[in-house]
Amino acid sequence: MSGNAKLLHENVWDQDPELMDLIKKEKQRQLRGLEMIASENFTSLSVLQCLSSCLHNKYSEGLPGQRYYGGNEFIDQVELLAQKRALEAYRLNPEEWGVNVQPYSGSPANLAVYTALIEPHGRIMGLDLPDGGHLTHGFMTPTKKISATSIFFESMPYKVDPVTGLIDYDKLAETAKLFKPKVIVAGISCYSRCLDYKRFREISDANGAYLFADMAHISGLVAAGIIPSPFEYADVVSTTTHKTLRGPRAGVIFFRKGVRSVKANGDKVYYDLEARVNQAVFPGLQGGPHNNAIAGIASAFLQAQTPEFKEYQEQVVKNSRSLCAGLIEKGYSVATGGTDVHLVLVDLRPAGITGARAEYILEEISIACNKNTVPGDKSALNPSGIRLGTPALTTRGLGEQDMEKVVDFIDRGLKLSKEIAAVSGPKLVDFKESVHKNAQFVPKVKALRDEVELFSSKFPLPGYEDY
Ligand SMILES: Cc1ncc(COP(=O)(O)O)c(C=O)c1O
Repeated sequence: MSGNAKLLHENVWDQDPELMDLIKKEKQRQLRGLEMIASENFTSLSVLQCLSSCLHNKYSEGLPGQRYYGGNEFIDQVELLAQKRALEAYRLNPEEWGVNVQPYSGSPANLAVYTALIEPHGRIMGLDLPDGGHLTHGFMTPTKKISATSIFFESMPYKVDPVTGLIDYDKLAETAKLFKPKVIVAGISCYSRCLDYKRFREISDANGAYLFADMAHISGLVAAGIIPSPFEYADVVSTTTHKTLRGPRAGVIFFRKGVRSVKANGDKVYYDLEARVNQAVFPGLQGGPHNNAIAGIASAFLQAQTPEFKEYQEQVVKNSRSLCAGLIEKGYSVATGGTDVHLVLVDLRPAGITGARAEYILEEISIACNKNTVPGDKSALNPSGIRLGTPALTTRGLGEQDMEKVVDFIDRGLKLSKEIAAVSGPKLVDFKESVHKNAQFVPKVKALRDEVELFSSKFPLPGYEDY
């Protein structure tokens, strides 16, 4: 092969062993560990094949039938297919709802929604990040505007009740009356209960606000029809497609079409969101769509309409409930006292363990999760809980009995962290050092990790054999 032909046609494992080695190591990590980060999943072979297809090569700025470049005959059909299946997956009438499948991911999708709905400095209200909301719902701290959604728009958070852990809708209604937001965001990254979309709608209507549902975390559960859907009440719905939905890393925006309201004199007021959302995505915020990802979206939404997908989502929730019950039985405290969805938020304050230590020790025994603030936490920098999710484990075929084993591993890991902390003292750096260097703890950590990895490696991963 000539030099250039080699560049073009050689397999990555022959051409770039250094990079390939890292990819293979990551595959091994995914295989031997228990993935419990609630926003993660293992996508299907079909989606991975779309992502690495020739569709990646094509520029197609604009929408199907209105592109700025030629050669989009088939790209148009791919995007139309993705749109059609997106609407079908949520049982939406195309007269009432439209969809844009071009957002690169969830954060750009949300920025596009605000750009479409309101002026710069328009007001938004979302669930505060430490209470379970997402950065893109307007997050800022008392001293700094963190998310662009708080820099370019004026945001005011609503909160959960610090005792029950449940969203305080009454307080939201009260604050919204004063703040007069133009957009209310109903969406969560860490909240284990279903949202009351009807109540959100009432509060939005009372203030003339749009109701924007960000269902990124729960869009697979909604597609399966096993938890309440935001579509009955929301004006706009966004989602990522890579979490419970198990598709490619991308974003989607659904917008209402047709009659928005009827005036006293009978005149109809129509939604004008279609052009606003589409223009906000392109040319407002993005350039060429990622057509390989759009094909992946089409593939994921085809899967989302199957009985097997519904069964999978039901199992995700059964596993989450089993995980939750198992942890409570072992004496752990869970925010809101339970779960209706794919995640559990464990409050480690009564157990005397910090979120950072818990996350660290679990990672050391090959269980991936993330530290998280819990309702009533004093400091967002030193969170007192961990968020555990079941979508990825369920994809690998774990069932409720397996969750008992997982609970046992978590419990033993957390107990070990207490043992270590009792010796290492209050500083996290000393704790980490003890995990790695203390002759008493190193073999204990290793033995538990070996057990977890042996257990985990029995469950297959979708995708390619070793990368
Ligand atoms: C509710 C919610 N919205 C939006 C996003 C942003 O998605 P992305 O990470 O794809 O930008 C997330 C990501 O975790 C999320 O949880």
